[in-house]
Amino acid sequence: MKKVGNHNSISRKLFFSVALTLCISLTSFSQTAAPAAAPVAPAAVATASGGDPVKGKELFNANCAACHKLDAKATGPMLRGVAAKHEMAWIYKWVHNSSDMIKSGDAAAVKLFEENNKSVMTAFPQLATTDIDNIIAYTSEPKAEAPAATVGGPVVDKAQEGSGVTNSVILGALALVMAMLVVMLVLVNNVLRKVAKANGIEVAPKETTMPIWKAFAKNQFLVLVSAIFLLLTGAYLVYGFLMQVGVDQNYEPIQPIHYSHRIHAGSNGINCKYCHSAARVSKHSNIPSLNVCMNCHKNIAEVSDTTATPDHSKAFYDGEIQKLYKAVGWDASTQSYTGKTEPVKWVRIHNLPDFVYFNHSQHVNVAGVECQTCHGPVQTYEVMKQFSPLTMGWCIDCHRKTEVKMEGNDYYTKIHEQLSKKYGVEKLTAAQMGGLECGKCHY
Ligand code: HEC
Ligand code: HEC
Ligand code: HEC
Ligand code: HEC
Ligand code: HEC
Ligand code: HEC
Repeated sequence: MKKVGNHNSISRKLFFSVALTLCISLTSFSQTAAPAAAPVAPAAVATASGGDPVKGKELFNANCAACHKLDAKATGPMLRGVAAKHEMAWIYKWVHNSSDMIKSGDAAAVKLFEENNKSVMTAFPQLATTDIDNIIAYTSEPKAEAPAATVGGPVVDKAQEGSGVTNSVILGALALVMAMLVVMLVLVNNVLRKVAKANGIEVAPKETTMPIWKAFAKNQFLVLVSAIFLLLTGAYLVYGFLMQVGVDQNYEPIQPIHYSHRIHAGSNGINCKYCHSAARVSKHSNIPSLNVCMNCHKNIAEVSDTTATPDHSKAFYDGEIQKLYKAVGWDASTQSYTGKTEPVKWVRIHNLPDFVYFNHSQHVNVAGVECQTCHGPVQTYEVMKQFSPLTMGWCIDCHRKTEVKMEGNDYYTKIHEQLSKKYGVEKLTAAQMGGLECGKCHY
């Protein structure tokens, strides 16, 4: 048999060079995917006064943070660098009892008092001078350099940007691999044809047969079965489509202020009913008015560093609080209202049709159903969304299943006596209490 002489053929060379590029591109890809170096920790800073800034920070947070911030005016003036303004002896006296100093007519004290709307600072006679040294050491630390990228408005996340890049690298690599595979297949096919030719084998030409659709059309049974199949799937899809009309489960609009339930109701454990106070007493639950927000946010102008997540930076959250200030007309530098307000137009999420009667107080207060049963794990939502479908089936299902908590609830004493006799059971579901009557839910 004749040996095939294609050792030096062009296609062979091509084949190898393609395989080589494939290897190189894969190794370089694995390098780009390697994790970036960890950020360098900020160096410790030396302090001006003899105190210990770490202890000072603790004392400051425990005693002074209610009225003072390091870098902004709050109830009292900003305290960073205050050591440069006064003698230490003056500061000891001031912190121990500022009112006495003002009364005694100390010029600096009186001036401060006048400048700060005559607010009185708490006296701290219990603080030793070393404690005050520590606090002043803390306030004398230079301001930590803010990372350049986070200055100003919402910031594009670096992590996200990074993943965007790696994603396109991966896609690019895959496309390359695909292209190479195609080229290789063509080459292999060519080589095989050459081998076959060299060996004198005939490559059979394609036979012409009856087109498949003609064969199908001739078989009546097959046609019938597929028609039924098509009709059934069609009906199923149409039914599914119609059933979700007007159902807005998981509706998650972008709100004018990025208000996070995770941060408020979750991390900070604020009770739902502190803000949604109407849920206890009325049909509707309210969205809190902005002065409720300001009960806390007069003093909270920024989030703590640990609140920032990979999705949302601290600068982003701080910017959102500024939106709140803008809406209520709060000037943080003078700690007063400017009188210029603008409404925040929250986007309504839950909305039953007008012909349905639903009452929060009946469910929350009387029946004692938790908010989360209907609204989902709200304390974990970064952005609020509709958890339940709010369909009639959803209401009815729960009324059938839920046993009403009657023990110790005077509201139910009488009706429980009557109905438990009627049904001969100890426990009653909402349905047995009339929760399936059309008129209860429909006007
Ligand atoms: C109840 C609020 C309140 C608390 C708590 C408070 N301060 Fe003050 N502080 C003020 C006010 C208000 C002033 C401005 C003077 C005035 O109106 O009496 C002030 C002024 C000062 C000044 C003078 C600032 C300047 O610019 O000259 C120093 C220093 C000071 N406070 C230190 C402290 C320290 C230290 C603590 C914690 C141990 C503390 N304060 C806790 C309200 C407070
Ligand atoms: C600090 C105030 C505050 C607290 C606490 C709070 N919320 Fe809210 N809630 C709001 C604000 C403001 C909105 C409107 C903005 C939005 O939809 O995110 C809202 C929206 C909602 C909505 C959607 C309203 C709509 O438009 O249909 C539900 C449901 C809700 N909250 C449930 C809860 C539950 C449950 C809790 C307790 C786990 C809770 N909230 C705690 C302030 C609060
Ligand atoms: C009971 C106190 C309290 C009330 C009431 C409150 N907040 Fe907050 N809010 C906080 C605290 C505390 C933080 C900072 C959390 C942190 O640093 O971890 C915060 C952070 C924020 C932030 C930045 C984080 C985020 O959620 O995007 C915004 C914006 C905000 N609040 C808006 C509001 C609005 C709007 C209201 C009124 C509907 C409101 N807050 C009511 C305590 C409150
Ligand atoms: C039995 C289920 C259920 C429970 C429990 C429940 N909700 Fe609702 N909630 C609903 C339904 C349904 C709507 C839509 C009401 C409408 O459109 O009239 C709604 C709407 C809301 C709204 C939008 C404003 C409104 O009333 O239309 C807020 C805010 C809200 N709920 C907060 C709460 C809070 C806070 C709690 C807990 C104290 C709570 N809900 C408990 C079912 C429930
Ligand atoms: C998580 C379970 C649950 C869901 C979901 C639910 N309910 Fe209820 N509902 C109850 C319970 C429990 C009662 C208390 C029974 C009572 O006091 O009469 C109740 C009572 C009622 C009542 C008063 C009935 C009476 O006899 O006076 C009405 C009206 C009502 N629900 C309407 C609705 C509507 C409308 C929806 C849907 C939008 C809904 N409910 C969803 C649990 C639920
Ligand atoms: C527990 C409360 C509840 C009871 C009881 C109830 N419904 Fe409904 N019904 C609803 C809700 C909620 C909707 C709105 C569903 C939606 O928007 O998808 C609704 C919608 C409807 C609709 C409009 C079609 C639709 O699905 O949107 C009709 C018709 C209707 N109900 C008839 C009845 C009749 C008849 C009865 C008595 C046998 C009854 N309902 C009992 C809560 C109830």
